[in-house]
Amino acid sequence: MVDDVDVLHLVRTLSSAPMQPRRNVELKARDPDPGATLRAALDHGADDQGLMRQRDVYFAAPGGRLKLRVQEDGAQLVGYRRAAAAEARLSSYHLADAPDPEATIAALDATLGTTVEVVKRRRLLIWRDVRIHLDDVDGLGTWVELEAVAPLDSDLAAEHAKVAELREVLGIADERIAAEGYAALLLQAGAATERLVALARRAMANAHAPYSGFHVGAALRDDAGALHAGCNVENAAYPQGQCAEASAIGALVTAGGRRIEEIAVMADTELITPCGGCRQRLSELAGPEVPVHLCGPEGIRRTVALGDLLPFAFDATAL
Ligand code: THU
Repeated sequence: MVDDVDVLHLVRTLSSAPMQPRRNVELKARDPDPGATLRAALDHGADDQGLMRQRDVYFAAPGGRLKLRVQEDGAQLVGYRRAAAAEARLSSYHLADAPDPEATIAALDATLGTTVEVVKRRRLLIWRDVRIHLDDVDGLGTWVELEAVAPLDSDLAAEHAKVAELREVLGIADERIAAEGYAALLLQAGAATERLVALARRAMANAHAPYSGFHVGAALRDDAGALHAGCNVENAAYPQGQCAEASAIGALVTAGGRRIEEIAVMADTELITPCGGCRQRLSELAGPEVPVHLCGPEGIRRTVALGDLLPFAFDATAL
């Protein structure tokens, strides 16, 4: 089922955009046995189009998702929105050829910032206009993806039906389906953690802490994959000083970030932990599951969940 938000977004996009987006009904699932999936797809009449290598470079776009796909036969910029959902879902997207991929990457990296790269080997099969991807993704293992590309005037019923039939034939059980894309899965698995820690280190070096002499750096990853940092800024009127976490939250919100997905805090002490006030500040924009890396200058010393630092948090549901 397509949810209401997707339909609303689609209607709005169709009526306002100069170029209509393309639409897919998609399903992505872990695949412990790609050989068996390949045989089942071929037995069902799918056509094997062969293997290809793809490199997707993702950029921190606050209003949606933006990636450059580089393949042997050329590169394309893909801008899209997709509701994360653990079921066959709709995505609408725009495609633009990128004849000079390295220059395009450099321009987008310099302005938006690169969040993560996904490199995979993909076997493409086609069954009744549905693309079946058997993917082997660096750092994530093997996956099967179904993509039914919808004609512009389709009500999507046929696309959902074809995806459902293939799902049955390929034996894709509910628990194998992933709601997130490869980029988000890699970020959850720590693809940005090293850069996050490096950013906290650089912020710590810039701390204005002449009164305490205690230099703190904080770095945050937002829901678009962008990284933001801050340091503590003390004041001769002591209570006016600001913690590193508060500075980093200000940078994130100012840049258009709305949610925090990963946190690093660094100081040259045995184990830095965010102060009580900053635990509250962080929990305004971060869920209890969000990892907090407690770092010394050399790197991570311990990682805890925000909910463990601030159990029974006060939040807006109490208001
Ligand atoms: N500080 C932070 O920036 N973050 C924390 O989580 C703990 C404390 C700063 C505040 C002050 O500038 C200095 O460290 C000493 O308390």
